[in-house]
Amino acid sequence: MSKYFGNCSDIINWDDVIKHLESLSNENRYEGKNNTNVDKRNELGTIENTHNHYILDSWREKNFDFNKINWSGYNVGTHYSKDLENQIADMLKVKMLSSWMSRVNPGDCCPSHWDLDSHTDVPFDKLVRFHIHMSPPAPGQIFVIEDEIFCNNKQGDIYLWDNRRQYHSAANCSFEPAYLFHCECYV
Ligand SMILES: [Fe+2]
Repeated sequence: MSKYFGNCSDIINWDDVIKHLESLSNENRYEGKNNTNVDKRNELGTIENTHNHYILDSWREKNFDFNKINWSGYNVGTHYSKDLENQIADMLKVKMLSSWMSRVNPGDCCPSHWDLDSHTDVPFDKLVRFHIHMSPPAPGQIFVIEDEIFCNNKQGDIYLWDNRRQYHSAANCSFEPAYLFHCECYV
């Protein structure tokens, strides 16, 4: 069960962060739909691709319509500042290893998956994962970690995951884009 870790909306103005993301061009933004293109999957034999093939094949087996699967990813340094990442690390009292922001547009979804470890040198019990609800509540925005459903959370709500390999998914049936902040940290 995830642990509620508090709310940071009095520390970080998430509306401003979202406004900034929406002011950027789409250039360099990670687009899930480009990486779930079945024609491109054979390009590399890396661990990342082996993992991604496994996840994508599990979605294909269940006949997901890949036209409806999409999400965007934003990176520190490119789309939001290192200062913001540092501010969040201070708030969580952790050493930040990596962070990113995600956006799921109305009508899109990201089916169940777990994220490949990006810090394989860090012992499993020393790496923790958090997510923060960046968007204000919008009925129809759903985020799921295993058997937990997050909807209508307050803007700025922070949750600590049980572990970094939990299956998670998102769907957006609301009228607004759904933004989440994610991070992996050393404790
Ligand atoms: Fe993920």
